[in-house]
Amino acid sequence: MELKDRIEQLKKEQDAVILAHYYVSDEVQAIADYIGDSFYLSKLAVNLDAKTLVVCGVSFMGESAKILNPEKTVLLPDSKADCAMAHMITPEKIAAMRAEHPRAAVVCYINSTAELKTCSDVCVTSANALKIVSALPNEEIIFIPDENLGRYVAQQLPEKKFIFNDGHCPIHAKITPEDIDDAKAAHPNAPVLAHPECTPAVLAKADYIGSTSGISDYATTHDHKEYIIATECGIGYKLRTQNPDKQFFFVQPTPICEDMKFITLEKIAHALETGDGEVHLEDAMRHQANAPLQKMLELAK
Ligand code: 13P
Ligand code: SF4
Repeated sequence: MELKDRIEQLKKEQDAVILAHYYVSDEVQAIADYIGDSFYLSKLAVNLDAKTLVVCGVSFMGESAKILNPEKTVLLPDSKADCAMAHMITPEKIAAMRAEHPRAAVVCYINSTAELKTCSDVCVTSANALKIVSALPNEEIIFIPDENLGRYVAQQLPEKKFIFNDGHCPIHAKITPEDIDDAKAAHPNAPVLAHPECTPAVLAKADYIGSTSGISDYATTHDHKEYIIATECGIGYKLRTQNPDKQFFFVQPTPICEDMKFITLEKIAHALETGDGEVHLEDAMRHQANAPLQKMLELAK
């Protein structure tokens, strides 16, 4: 039996649905029931009836799905798939920042471990960070762990004072302003669509800045025939399938998140067959990490 058919059969047996982030490989996106950005996937996870959620992405995505759905079985087909940025601050450093800025709200990018979420007041994703930070009454904002997303939000909210942490996505941080210049020279008619995890110098050269869904919506709803893309290459699957008449050029060298590519069809089938990769969280940790995620869902409405 073909692997795809086997997965279909296992999904029925296990009452499972497959959720995939835009950065996983094309073949995994092709068999997923739902594909989206981090915000879409976390919102969706709370509204699904299935008993088992197979989360094709990195570990903070599996953890978030479990935190929001404690009664469901959540499988991460490769438990080693991780996001480097999710570990780029410690609870001790957050405590020190809070002590120095007692009136500040701690705003935590969802790309963070469950432990870091327990130290935070509210979570955000790249799609809703601006809306959520604007809605907070606090004038001071401690933004963790991503400095680049934090600075992008801060630039649009001059009335607030931001305290940053020096975390970053190693994949987006590698993109340089010169890479953008080279892409523009090669494709002068193509607007530059960039993810806010890019550095401020790169974002300054972008025509549009947004989450992976934002980038995909922009390309789908605009008339340009060519686009320069400054984010991880997995988004190319959605861009190409939704816009067969348009061309997408990734900045060079092509940004690739190896951890996202750890998820394969073989590992999905194996996880469904054996339960390997089940996400477990201590009750106390889950409860505390749930509060900032619930606050995000509430404020993002
Ligand atoms: P979004 O899909 O929410 O834009 O996030 C990008 C990302 O880096 C996920 O790891
Ligand atoms: Fe983390 Fe960057 Fe990979 Fe996204 S692309 S999962 S932020 S390392």
